[in-house]
Amino acid sequence: MTAVLVSLPVAWAQVWTTPLAELAPAFTLFVHERDNYDPKSINYVLSFRPPTGLLKSLPNLKVAFSLGAGVDGFLADGDYPRQVPLVRLVDHGLSRDMTHYIVMHTLIFHRDQRAYDAHQREGQWRQALPARRTEDTRVGILGLGEIGTLAATRLRDLDFAVAGWSRNRKEVPGIQSFAGNAELDAFLNRSDILVCVLPLTPETRGILNRETFAKLPHGAFVINVARGGHLIEDDLIAAIDEGRLAGAVLDVFQHEPLAQSSPLWTHPRITITPHIAALSDPRAVARAAIEGIARHERGEALENRVDLSRGY
Ligand code: NDP
Ligand code: OXD
Repeated sequence: MTAVLVSLPVAWAQVWTTPLAELAPAFTLFVHERDNYDPKSINYVLSFRPPTGLLKSLPNLKVAFSLGAGVDGFLADGDYPRQVPLVRLVDHGLSRDMTHYIVMHTLIFHRDQRAYDAHQREGQWRQALPARRTEDTRVGILGLGEIGTLAATRLRDLDFAVAGWSRNRKEVPGIQSFAGNAELDAFLNRSDILVCVLPLTPETRGILNRETFAKLPHGAFVINVARGGHLIEDDLIAAIDEGRLAGAVLDVFQHEPLAQSSPLWTHPRITITPHIAALSDPRAVARAAIEGIARHERGEALENRVDLSRGY
């Protein structure tokens, strides 16, 4: 018997169990906090942010699967059983949707669309805004992994001057590669639009802070689609209010859902979306988990396995 435990808010669980049940009818599926199950019977887990201690309580757990690209929700559990392989989602549809979001907000800023929206509300016909030259607009992507690389190449194809920052140097045609902490300042100095698609790890937490913003060109714009933990929200508001940054787009927050009392909601230069830059496709998640389980059962190496020592 292959027993899979789905640990997600119970109200959403069916969205994820339905394709699993259809594509792998031989699996026995349990939903945490909905079904009775014997912890000893569970072999695999599918989750995004499992409750602290849950995975440790499953003595026969073989592999944990994340239904998202990020695994910070698993690694926030200090009791994560380190001998259990953790597999993250790598899916073209997810990377493509993230890329759409990044390209859309890059273009909205680059083309001054927010100003034209305001002019429309005021009934003003104004062509006077100076157009920025695309070739002169330097986009900097923090994190040149699965998502960052796709976004970088799409922006390059639109003629933006694109660079990426990663731990290791990358060879991507037409993309300037900056690597490691020693090259972070040079990367920031040349980034008019800074996009964060890093995984949240102890090394990257809080990377979008006052010092980082001070190294960007005056009037730079920030897009954070990675995790709220990357951003010091007060530093962002201060940098915008001081005129150092032109504004920001935020899809992710320190605390989700974002508190009603947060000043981010009403800031005129901040655009907010509720962690929807890309939503994992339940069928793609089910296929990835089924393939991962099959590989594991055949004794083959798992694809997209997280390096627990790096945290991504
Ligand atoms: P990858 O693991 O493919 O890429 C991560 C990139 O970050 C790599 O290029 C890596 O460098 C770089 N990196 C990590 N740590 C450091 C560091 N300390 N210094 C420099 N570079 C570093 O991840 P994905 O592209 O698949 O996903 C990125 C993140 O996007 C996810 O972790 C998640 O948080 C977020 N996300 C958000 C979504 C949303 O809806 N808002 C949806 C999907 C993902 P190297 O390649 O050299 O190792
Ligand atoms: C992810 C996410 O990590 O949806 O995939 O945030």
